[in-house]
Order: sequence, then structure tokens, then C-alpha cells
Amino acid sequence: MNNTNKADVLLGLQWGDEGKGKIVDVFTPHYNIVARFQGGPNAGHTLVFENQKYVLHTIPSGIFHSGCVNVVGNGVVLDPFIISKELDQLCFPVSRIKESLVFCEKAHLILPSHRLLDAAYEMKKGDARIGSTLKGIGPAYTDKTARSGLRLCDAVSDGFSHLYKNLKEQHMQLISTLGVDVDDVMLDGLCFSDYEAHWFDALERLKELPRINSELFINEALNRGDRVLAEGAQGALLDINFGSYPFVTSSSTTVSGACAGLGIAPSRIGEVFGVFKSYCTRVGSGPFPTEIHDENATRLRDLGQEYGSTTGRPRRCGWLDLPALKYAVMINGVTRLLMTKADVLNTTGIIRVCVAYDTGDNQRHSLPNVCGTSEQKPVYRDMKGWQCSLEHIDRFEALPEELLRYVAMIEDFVDVPVDVISTGPDRKEILIRKGAQLPWSE
Ligand code: GDP
Ligand code: IMO
Ligand code: MG
Repeated sequence: MNNTNKADVLLGLQWGDEGKGKIVDVFTPHYNIVARFQGGPNAGHTLVFENQKYVLHTIPSGIFHSGCVNVVGNGVVLDPFIISKELDQLCFPVSRIKESLVFCEKAHLILPSHRLLDAAYEMKKGDARIGSTLKGIGPAYTDKTARSGLRLCDAVSDGFSHLYKNLKEQHMQLISTLGVDVDDVMLDGLCFSDYEAHWFDALERLKELPRINSELFINEALNRGDRVLAEGAQGALLDINFGSYPFVTSSSTTVSGACAGLGIAPSRIGEVFGVFKSYCTRVGSGPFPTEIHDENATRLRDLGQEYGSTTGRPRRCGWLDLPALKYAVMINGVTRLLMTKADVLNTTGIIRVCVAYDTGDNQRHSLPNVCGTSEQKPVYRDMKGWQCSLEHIDRFEALPEELLRYVAMIEDFVDVPVDVISTGPDRKEILIRKGAQLPWSE
């Protein structure tokens, strides 16, 4: 038995959409297993190769590499309807799907009525709404914690229709108490009963796919010496405990989520890869201290194509927030940083970076007042941009001096090396620093 073999974790350090899916796809050839540990179809992970774009919501981002087993862990919430659509997008023969995709039977199901509830809660919140993706994430995790949720293993049991009916009934009562009319809510363009019929068809399809227990599957793989990469969804600042509550998602997006969502002991976590954009974006409501409100935001949005992969909503754009990044690095124990979307800043003359917050009397270099609602005033350092294309650069070390200075400043602030820079959406647009201590480079 190989007790020293560890699982690496890759996660987002901002408010999601950092480009995690792309990096997982690039790293997958070095791993035997890629495993999602939390979240659900609120995630949208984009992969681009051979002029094709794919957006994955539940299926791990290692799926396009044959030979890699993709695990959907116990910490993930599953919507069969959305998984079925993802499977259609892959266009794989059933045999290929069955050998490369497995689901933990402890994973909880998102019922159609969870999605109704999500919509009802958001309607009732009015201006205070979270800006949920309306995929039923909050209500599904609520039922899980309340010990009334339904798991994939329940779906294959004889009593499932009874369990389903009971839980749906509870949801419907709640929705009616909230004063929301079910007929006013459309789910992916369908009325409730049509959606529910499709959901049950999709559940049958899901039941045909291999089921595992992720804690046994992953630990046995590690014992055999297999390489495992745990793929996070969302980002540290959307974490249920450490994000800007209540404007967060309902799962642990940080490294502890990988332990709980796959059954890996903390002592078996190896590298923690932290992915961040060269600037910041946020979709949905909630504090965003470095948000830009002038034409620079429109420019970043256009150049970076900052529109939600799951909802299509325009993402709010802002400058890089180093105190927030440092906080995310701290709570995750990040060992290697990966910066994406460097190319989006190619034409920015002066790049602003938040290095502190003005508290009135002095400046704080850490993320202040995580619990409070008072306005955070960023203190910026202005950096000269590189103002050239990165398209033909084939080595990290050959990047423009101003970009290397930008990277050095980030490393200095957070005290973790930036080992990888992504310079475009395609799988090929990636630069790895010479001598970077990646787990497969020894
Ligand atoms: P994820 O949720 O973290 O996987 O990120 P998303 O897929 O939601 O959003 C990232 C977007 O940026 C996608 O459209 C990617 O194709 C794209 N992307 C990833 N890396 C880069 C990069 O280095 N440069 C540019 N321009 N786009 C990138
Ligand atoms: P990936 O994995 C960006 C945001 C929503 C909302 C809040 C709560 O693609 O990075 P939820 O539907 O979870 O109840 O919404 O979290 N959010 C994301 N933002 N990327 C994501 O995932 C997100 N998943 C949820 O916009 O503000
Ligand atoms: Mg995304």
C-alpha cells in the first residue's frame, strides 16, 4: 500500500470563473483521476480545443482525455436533467461514458422542486437577492443539512417514488406559503410538469451509469499509486463559511471541501493549485471592493468575454484585489498559483492593483471586515501595462518585462510562486515557468 501518495486540489481563489476548467483540462494528462468535490450545475467550466468550445456543469473537466476516470464526488449535488444535457454535448458512445465517468451514490439530488424553491426565495428577497444561478443549489444543500435530502442511492431503491412525493409535497407547501405561483416559474424554458417529466427520464439515464463510493474509490486509487486531481467549483470568496455571506454559494469551495466532498483525509492532500484571473470578476450580488464602474469595465468585459458560462449574465469586472487573494491563499494553504487571462490586459496602459484598504486612520493589507457591510475603499498601486500581444510567446521567461513585473509583485504580496500563466482560452495557450515544481516534473 502506498500511504504517501496524495491527491492534488485545484480551486478558484476569487468569485468563480477563474478558468479552473481550462487548467484542469491541461493538467489531466498527468492524472489518472479527476474528481469534482462540491457545487453542482451552478458551475460552468469552459474548455476550448480544436476550435470547439465545451461548457461542463457537473461532469469533471478531465472528461475529454481518454484513460482518465472522472469522479463526481459525494459533496456534489446532481440534477439529472442537466447531466443528461451535458452527456449529449459530449457525443461519446455509451461505452466511453461508462468507462470514464462515475458518480458517488452518496451525492444528493436536486429535485425539480428545489429549483422552484430557489426561484421562490430569490423572488421574495427582492433587492436583497443573492443573484443565484437558480439551479436549486441552496435548497438542495439545505435539505442535505436538514437530513431530509434524497441521494443517488435512494433513486435506485424501491421506495423512491414515495420519498420523492413526500419531499416534493413539503417543497410545494413552502412555495405556497411564500406566496409564489408555480405557474409563474419556468425551468430551463419548461413549465414545472414538463421539466419534471424530463427530469425522471434523465434520472433513468443517470441510473445506468456506474456508481461508486468516492471515499473508497479515491483512497484505494491513491493506495495503488494513482494520481488524483480534485477539481473545485466556484471560488474561495463564494465559500459558505469564508465568502461574503450571505452573497455566497451553499458549499465549501475551499480545500476542506475536497476532504469532505470526496472522503480524502487532510494528511492526504498534496499540492493546492490556486487559480486566479489577472483581474477580478463577480456575477451576482454582493460586495466587490475593486469593481470598476467606468469604460474600463466594459473593455475588460468585451476583451475577456465576461458573460456567465451557466447563465449568460454579464459579469461585473474590477481590478485585481491582492488582500482578497492573500486571504484566499491563506484559507486554502495554496502551494502554487496559476494566473489566467493575462492576455485580457494586453491593451491596458495602466493596470491598477488593490494593495490595501483605507480604513480612515490607516491602511490594512489584509481583507478587512469580512462580516460587515460597510464600504471597503481600496488603495491602488498603478502598474505600467505591457501593451503587446502574447500570442507568439512560447516560454514563460519570454513574457514582456512589465508582465513579469506584475507577476513578481503578486508573488511578493502573497508569498506563493506563480508557476503557470494562461494567455488565451485554448488548451494550447499556456506557459509553465521553467523549473516549476509541479508534482509530475520531478
Ligand atoms: P471556470 O468556471 O473557472 O472554469 O471558468 P469559466 O469557464 O466560467 O470562465 C472562464 C472563461 O475564460 C471561459 O470562457 C474560458 O474559455 C476563458 N479563459 C480561460 N483562460 C483564459 C485565458 O487565459 N485568456 C482568455 N482570454 N480567456 C480564458
Ligand atoms: P464556477 O464553478 C461564478 C454565484 C452566483 C451567485 C452565488 C450563489 O463556474 O466558477 P448559487 O446558484 O450557487 O446559489 O449562487 O454564487 N456562483 C458563481 N459565480 N462562477 C460559479 O461557478 C458560480 N456558482 C455560483 O452567481 O452570486
Ligand atoms: Mg464558470
